[in-house]
Amino acid sequence: MLVVGGPASNGIDAALAKRLGAEHLVVQHKIFPDGESYIRYPRPRLSGTVILVQSLCPPQDKHLVELLLMADAAKDLGAERVVAVVPYLAYSRQDKRFLEGEAISVKTVLKCLECAGVDCVVTVDLHSEKIVKYSKVPVVNVSAVPALVEWVRAAIPAGEEVVVLSPDKGGLARARAAAELLGAGFDYVEKVRDRVTGEVRAVPKRLSVEGRVAVIIDDIISTGGTIALAAKSALEQGAKEVYAACTHALLVSGAQERMARAGAKRVVATNTVPSPVSEVDVSPLLGEAVNKALSLL
Ligand code: R5P
Repeated sequence: MLVVGGPASNGIDAALAKRLGAEHLVVQHKIFPDGESYIRYPRPRLSGTVILVQSLCPPQDKHLVELLLMADAAKDLGAERVVAVVPYLAYSRQDKRFLEGEAISVKTVLKCLECAGVDCVVTVDLHSEKIVKYSKVPVVNVSAVPALVEWVRAAIPAGEEVVVLSPDKGGLARARAAAELLGAGFDYVEKVRDRVTGEVRAVPKRLSVEGRVAVIIDDIISTGGTIALAAKSALEQGAKEVYAACTHALLVSGAQERMARAGAKRVVATNTVPSPVSEVDVSPLLGEAVNKALSLL
């Protein structure tokens, strides 16, 4: 078995190869002067099972094309099975038509992976489990919530009463899972997003946060607007402190400053996307997930 790191593997490739006791290789890549991507395996032939590791973090489109080139070339060079470990699957928030005529982007991404020769996708915290239905090849989706909870447990002083908050109703199951592991209560902020401008606002709602440390948990932090809104609501209603934990920290457009201004004391994420807060390593989870993927092929 061979683990191959792509240009956006964020070190997960090496850790995964070590865990699986597999050979490790990194593809050569460059960008041509006109912006096109180039991928080369540093050997003429491949065989057996090849595990590709490539996150679809920003720039998403470039990283997607690189992954497609890696998968197709792997099959051309003789790989019998290709497992794509995609720690962050971009486009997963566009998983339905919110407005008439929209593309269902994640469906297209999954179709492309399959078309390029991917036999199984392994990923972390899909925006919604329903996305799996768009893929003709198996998708193994692992949760980073237990690993994030371990971080939270170590970061919050013992004796504090904790409440886990989902920043919207859609993430309630994630908050409930984290709360169960922490032995804490949970609640959610009622958020509405303008589907045209993307702006979010909170609908007035009583939160059970008074005198407690609020831990906001989400799958993605992009602009930080959602976390900022939830942090502000929690602090206005008497939360002692606010921590935020997410799986994929995209952190665009001044997200860190926005969350800090709203009162978030600390923000943490996993290393599915490289960022200054990506402290929690998902390699152990992905090792188990790859073994599950191999049993499905
Ligand atoms: C939305 O449903 C997601 O779960 C995240 O809450 C959202 O993508 C975060 O985006 P932002 O940080 O830009 O508010």
